[in-house]
Amino acid sequence: MATSAEMNRKEFLQLFGVGAAALVATACLGGCGSKASDPVVGAPNVDFTVNLTAAGSAPLDDPAVGYIYNLTRDVIVAKTTAGTYVALQAPCPHEGTSVYFARSQSRFICPNHNAIFDTGGTVLSGPSPRALKQYTVVQTGTSLHITG
Ligand code: FES
Repeated sequence: MATSAEMNRKEFLQLFGVGAAALVATACLGGCGSKASDPVVGAPNVDFTVNLTAAGSAPLDDPAVGYIYNLTRDVIVAKTTAGTYVALQAPCPHEGTSVYFARSQSRFICPNHNAIFDTGGTVLSGPSPRALKQYTVVQTGTSLHITG
């Protein structure tokens, strides 16, 4: 067996079973920029219901709060000053910090590096590379069905 000094790059790659494609993929993990067409990180598909009469939904009607998260903190549900409900991905696309809703400004804000999003999830300012995913909200009486 060759010593490490004698081992050229090809032999090293063969020894460890690493192909060129794997190297390219690995090289992009920390250095490639994201594109708008990339999968949305931190925004899984969801299908759940919010009972507006449940105690856990009370913050939605609290003017000082106006939002709740789902159990897995993937989604933030907010009540706008106009009384409509919106649901967006909660983890900031920049580094994953949960955004909160500033009701008086009708803005979603990431407290980590101050990315600011409108109620449709569009980036207004800050380092987020993409918008927050917006989920569909259908209200039936005192129930919100959230999907997307
Ligand atoms: S993690 Fe949200 S702006 Fe950086």
